Amino acid sequence: MRTIRVNLDKNSYDIIFDNTLDELRKFMSNYKKVVLVTDQNVDKHYGQLFTSAITAKLVLPSGESTKSQESLFWLYDQFINLGVTRDDLIVAFGGGVIGDLTGYASATFMRGVPYIQVPTTLLAQVDSSVGGKTAIDMPQAKNIVGAFYQPKAVFINTNLLATLPKRVYNDGMAEVIKYGVIRDIELFNMLGQKDLDHEEIVYRCCDIKRLIVERDQFDTGERMLLNFGHTLGHVVEQFYNYKRYTHGEAVAIGMYTMAKIGVQMGITSPGTPELIKAMLSKYKLPHHFTINPNIALNIFSLDKKSQGDMINIIIPKAIGQSTIMKVNKIALFQYLKNL
Ligand SMILES: NC(=O)c1ccc[n+]([C@@H]2O[C@H](COP(=O)([O-])OP(=O)(O)OC[C@H]3O[C@@H](n4cnc5c(N)ncnc54)[C@H](O)[C@@H]3O)[C@@H](O)[C@H]2O)c1
Ligand SMILES: [Zn+2]
Repeated sequence: MRTIRVNLDKNSYDIIFDNTLDELRKFMSNYKKVVLVTDQNVDKHYGQLFTSAITAKLVLPSGESTKSQESLFWLYDQFINLGVTRDDLIVAFGGGVIGDLTGYASATFMRGVPYIQVPTTLLAQVDSSVGGKTAIDMPQAKNIVGAFYQPKAVFINTNLLATLPKRVYNDGMAEVIKYGVIRDIELFNMLGQKDLDHEEIVYRCCDIKRLIVERDQFDTGERMLLNFGHTLGHVVEQFYNYKRYTHGEAVAIGMYTMAKIGVQMGITSPGTPELIKAMLSKYKLPHHFTINPNIALNIFSLDKKSQGDMINIIIPKAIGQSTIMKVNKIALFQYLKNL
């Protein structure tokens, strides 16, 4: 068993890898009641795993629309009916949707009840379960209501990934490729191999996220590196109304495009975009940016990371190294036109 300690003073916690059911059960037994929150797909595959260790199981429909006010208030209702208090434990057992929703419900119910993350998608294992960002969506905007609220532990078992639909798996792989490009060339190279060591891959991603979160818990500086590919990715997601591309697919387009822009700026070493493109295609991820730069400019003017005329962008210098830069939006627009 391997663990990673996330050091955040009194909010510190362990990420525990390759956990056995027994270890999780042992952890759960420290609490009076254990309430497991999951979605229908995860419940179908793994719903029986914890039956004897939990007080109640709350099952929500699968999909992004579950990250809603309605689900949140439904959870509060269930917690009240079950008599949940701060001596109890909430378990988020699912992908990023269940993790974000359950984390936010735990952060706000009784001003904070303990919770753990047991992520079941690749994206949740390498990204959303670590770092303490919790949220729900509003009809007007995704993740617009949320809190920083750290879990008591994260239990990761990569065997759970075996049942993921291919597109959901590849979606998470875009974030894995992101970690390789921003920080870890060995990880990037591992992704090119035929048989993947998922435990090692997820471990490395979590360790990078840990390092960055420890240095910048509240997302005011270095944590921006994790947004590599995301500013343009959000443009792509919004332009296609969140329908044509998954988040990871949109980020894939964003990563390749930023690398191309980096070459134009003289920051990215030539050949880097091609390496990224080849890795993206291995995981059936797109790379081509198809949006008119004028429309892109309008969309990223609304971006959270945009400050007046300037916007923060992440540029890879080469595979494994990247940098945060503040650029003028018009300059970025010109680079997009020259692609
Ligand atoms: N908090 C953060 O830092 C952070 C970071 C990135 C993304 N997110 C959020 O994460 C969400 C996306 O997460 P996601 O991609 O995990 O989506 P998801 O939770 O919707 O899961 C994707 C699909 O896979 C199914 N599934 C989950 N585990 C499975 C398994 N082991 N076997 C078979 N099917 C399984 C789910 O039921 C769902 O249909 C978004 O809402 C996004 O905003 C949060
Ligand atoms: Zn992302």
